[in-house]
Order: sequence, then C-alpha cells, then structure tokens
Amino acid sequence: MTSPNKHRADVQLDVQNLKMYFPIRRGFLQRLVGNVKAVDDVSFQVRTGQTLGLVGESGCGKTTVGRCIARAYKPTAGKIIYTNEANQSVDLATLPASELKPYRRQVRMIFQDPYSSLNPRMTLLEIIGEPMKIHRTARGKELEDRVAMLLQKVGLSPEYMRRYPHAFSGGQRQRIGIARALALDPRVIIADEPVSALDVSVQAQILNLLRDLQRELGLTYIFISHDLSVVQYIADRVAVMYVGNLVEIADTHRVFYTPKHPYTEALLSAVPKPDPRLRSQRIVLEGDVPDPARPPSGCPFHPRCRYAQAVCRVEKPQLCDVSAEHLVACHFADTLHLKGVETIG
Ligand SMILES: Nc1ncnc2c1ncn2[C@@H]1O[C@H](COP(=O)(O)OP(=O)(O)O)[C@@H](O)[C@H]1O
Ligand SMILES: [Mg+2]
Repeated sequence: MTSPNKHRADVQLDVQNLKMYFPIRRGFLQRLVGNVKAVDDVSFQVRTGQTLGLVGESGCGKTTVGRCIARAYKPTAGKIIYTNEANQSVDLATLPASELKPYRRQVRMIFQDPYSSLNPRMTLLEIIGEPMKIHRTARGKELEDRVAMLLQKVGLSPEYMRRYPHAFSGGQRQRIGIARALALDPRVIIADEPVSALDVSVQAQILNLLRDLQRELGLTYIFISHDLSVVQYIADRVAVMYVGNLVEIADTHRVFYTPKHPYTEALLSAVPKPDPRLRSQRIVLEGDVPDPARPPSGCPFHPRCRYAQAVCRVEKPQLCDVSAEHLVACHFADTLHLKGVETIG
C-alpha cells in the first residue's frame, strides 16, 4: 500500500478530489433516496510543519474533511496522500482498516468541547495514558512519567495527574485534550474548533500553546474554525469551504488582505475590527448554508452572493489560479474588487 514518494518532500498531506457522501434512507425498506454531499470534490495540500486553516460557516463540511483525514470515516471517493517517516506516500483514503493502525498514532484529533470530550470518570493519568495503553507504547511507571512530561508540556502541573477533569477550567481542559493528542508522538494534528468554546483571553493562550508545540515538535496542523479571526494568527494558508466545496485557498495574508471570493469577503467583513470606522462595513449573509443533500444549481454560493449574475445560476465555477498558489472558484474572480480586512492609515 506504500509507494515511493512522487510528491514534493515537504508536502505532509495531499488531499485529492475528496468526497464524503452520507446516504439518506427512507421508509420501511430503507431505500436510498439521496445523498448528503457533505464533502464534494475537495483538493488541497498541507506542507510539513505548517498549519492549514479550514474555515466556513457551520454545516460547510469542515469536520467531515477532518474526520476523513483521521479515517474516522472512510471517504466515498478521492485520495488522502500522507507522507510517512520513511518519506513514502500512503493513501489513507483507501487503506484497509487492518493497515491503519500506525497512522492512527500519527494523525490525531483535538475537539471543540473540552467538557464533553473528556470522560468525567477518568483521572488525567487515565485520560492522557489511555492512547498509550491502547497502542501499547508505554505502561506502569514509564506511562506515568510520560503523562507527567506531557502535562508539563501543555503547561499543567504533573501533580494534577490523579484529579478528574471537573476540577479544571475550560482552558485547562483543552490543555488536557492537547496532552492526550500528543501522547503517541503524532505528526499531524487535526484541531476541530479547538478554541471556539473558550473566552477570548483563554483562546489566545491555547493558540500560543499550539504554536509553541508546533515549533518544538515539527507538527503539521489542520486548524478548523468557523471564526476567521482565530485562524489569522495560527494558519500559514487558509482554505475556505462552502457547502462541501473549497471556494478559495491561499496564503493567510492573501486571504485576509486580497480575498477573491465573495463568500470570503462576507466572512471577513464579520471579523471584529479594532478601528470603529471600519465596523459598519459588515456584509450580512442572508439565509442559511444550503442543505448539502440539495445543493443549489451552478455556483453553490449564488443564492447568497451580492455579485451573482446569470451564469452563476447555471454553471459551477471550477477552482482556478488567480495568482501563484491562490486558487478561487468564482466566475468573476478576476474582475471583482473585494474588500479584505483593511487598515486605515
Ligand atoms: N454522519 C452524518 N450523516 C449525515 N449527514 C451528516 C453527517 N455528518 C455531517 N453531516 C452533514 O454534512 C454537512 C457538513 O457537516 P460538518 O462536516 O459537520 O460541517 P461543519 O464542520 O463545517 O459544521 C452538514 O449538512 C451535516 O448535517
Ligand atoms: Mg464542525
């Protein structure tokens, strides 16, 4: 299942044409009546040691992408080319369950809600030690020493080892979740809205911790967030999703200052601005994210797009280069003058 690496050596993950459809079954005979196209033909790369921010409103398919890469789901179609330690390419999308085990250690997830994702009846030693027990990487005193080391790494005292999660604040619980994710020396971490449940001041501490750990351990991150202001500080590149599709992907600075997709522009207009003169420019997105079981014709964003024209209702725009490594799926990407996060000087 492995092949010599034909990819650039610095690409940790190369996701190609990823699709994840959930069947919709109805009636007594549970007949297939349709599919929820949660992820519909998504391609992107993540470089080793870097962070890709994956953004979009709730329901756009971000979590499903993350769960496919962690192989919590087996994708409907597409490839997830992972570069292993031996610099070989492995397609995680098609790997049979029996061969997944080493990759389950190397690709770990961190979740949004530090209250529900930690078992309240387990001590920190048990919570953080559990992956090591399951994968038999450490036990006994050695396991305890590792848990102590991991607690220290995430800024918690090893003395807390025998306590239960209820004794800790939201930010501390997220640190526990991070320690658990680090327990098996992963190479890739998929952080799904890791700070969305936390106060703004605590968010910054957790983001700094994730950044320090990335530098120290050479980790590659996929950082999922519905809130663009959060990814600005952590992501090297940003991918914007809308109803199962990628609509824009570029370096973080470009996405924030020279966005080329009207959806990105609308999301950016909602990012809090320190200068009050810029606060009134918010673009209100009417309506909800469409149901991915019945996506709109043409461009999926056209019903909510203030620039939509006739062609947008009938023809789906492909993701194309507008400049080096800046890809956009919009018929008018070259002609629209969109607003990014602006600075008044
Ligand atoms: N297991 C599932 N079965 C059916 N539909 C699902 C399932 N998981 C997610 N969906 C649907 O797929 C879409 C994308 O969901 P999700 O990936 O959770 O989006 P996000 O993380 O961006 O909020 C949503 O419409 C959601 O209802
Ligand atoms: Mg989600």
